[in-house]
Amino acid sequence: MKTDCIALVLAAGEGKRMKSSLPKVLHKAAGKALAHWVVDAAREAAGTEPVIVVGNGADMVKEYFGENARYAVQAEQKGTGHAVMCAADYLNGSAYALIVAGDMPLLRARTLIDLKEKAMKENLGVCVLSALMEDPADYGRVVRGDTLRIVERKDAKPEELSIKEVNASVYCFSTPRLLEALESLSDDNAQGEYYLTDCVAYISEKGYGASAVICADAGECMGVNDRAQLAAASKALRRRINERHMLEGVTLIDPENTYIDYGVKIAKDVVIYPGVTLEGNTEIAQGAVLYPGSRIEDSTIGQRTVVQNSVIISSRIGDDSKIGPYAYLRPGSVVGSGCRVGDFVEVKNATIADGAKVSHLSYIGDGEIGEKSNIGCGVVFVNYDGIKKSRTVVGKNAFVGCNVNLIAPVKVGDGAYVAAGSTVTKDVEEDALCIARSRQTVIEGWAKRRRGE
Ligand code: UD1
Ligand code: MG
Repeated sequence: MKTDCIALVLAAGEGKRMKSSLPKVLHKAAGKALAHWVVDAAREAAGTEPVIVVGNGADMVKEYFGENARYAVQAEQKGTGHAVMCAADYLNGSAYALIVAGDMPLLRARTLIDLKEKAMKENLGVCVLSALMEDPADYGRVVRGDTLRIVERKDAKPEELSIKEVNASVYCFSTPRLLEALESLSDDNAQGEYYLTDCVAYISEKGYGASAVICADAGECMGVNDRAQLAAASKALRRRINERHMLEGVTLIDPENTYIDYGVKIAKDVVIYPGVTLEGNTEIAQGAVLYPGSRIEDSTIGQRTVVQNSVIISSRIGDDSKIGPYAYLRPGSVVGSGCRVGDFVEVKNATIADGAKVSHLSYIGDGEIGEKSNIGCGVVFVNYDGIKKSRTVVGKNAFVGCNVNLIAPVKVGDGAYVAAGSTVTKDVEEDALCIARSRQTVIEGWAKRRRGE
């Protein structure tokens, strides 16, 4: 017996009910497109790269999945059965075909593997995944009788509408049986489409063996068709992700209000308060504390570092540093260990070395701050002259007073001091004091005279 298995992910539909210019299957849940969840599960179950059937927004779907994925094109969307016909070239030669709708991100690889193993072991023509749902809503109903069939909600008779066992849109077919069944499909139904679901009745009637397995966790079978279902699916995925982190030793003060994307890595003894969003390729090291309201994307946070109410994007922070409240670290910010980046400090494409402090109200753009330097309140790295960006370099152990403008390109040497209120246009040598402001004049009694006293 050939055991090679191909997986198809149906992702050509428009997803009208999403009311979106983005194809439905590219809408994200917990940081990953709906179809991406399905493709990952299908790959794990089939052991080969799944074929994605694309049509609506095909270019966008291909751009998302990239060149290494495999695609079949369904130019016109004439139903789920037609979508499978469009992938016939890939099906030929395989023994089994796992077919999954691209809109069910909660489906687990384990469930697909069980379905495949049952189909193989029992030599079935098709094994269908079903679910028991209190409200079967728009799902196709599984009709069990002498033969097995699926009836779509729009085609169902009143007595069929009350059936609570629904079709999940996940199948393991014997490929030759599938190819034969596809030949028999017609679009004579309420939606004028070629339904993949009709293949089940064909295979059953032919006596090729058709079985439906009820999924132990009906939640896995949820299809996302509109934004309310997208929110519900995202929430369920986040619950799974959060659960996993908590079991690995992460404290989530309020897991229902903590938003962690699927790929984020978090070490043990990290404490995360509500309203924190961790996105993309982010890593949080042991013992870090993330207070409420931070968004961290594609960044790494070092051990025991504390972040409060801040936005951190494509940046790296070392150990034992304090960030925020209300700091904004834009792409390319590298903050060392034992640093402080305080309230209303914006950093962009800049390096702040170990032990340096920028405590309040500053803009650090395109520059470097050396070890243990102190940047006073309100310092601005003036990096843009209206045409080009230039760099500011502050050495180590330097002290830049409050409200200083450093007009780039400019350097402040190691151990130098810059007096508060200076506008610095020329390099400052190491260990020097720079005062670049007008000298104060005091005219005694002036105010009193003006008042005519
Ligand atoms: C489908 C099933 C229904 C099942 C439900 C589970 C059919 C006819 N109906 O209904 O029995 O209960 O899923 O969620 O299969 N697609 C294409 N090409 C097309 C049409 C659809 O690739 O021409 C893709 C879509 O992108 C989507 C998937 O197939 O990922 C399912 O299509 P959708 O329109 O969501 O079907 P449902 O109405 O949900
Ligand atoms: Mg659907």
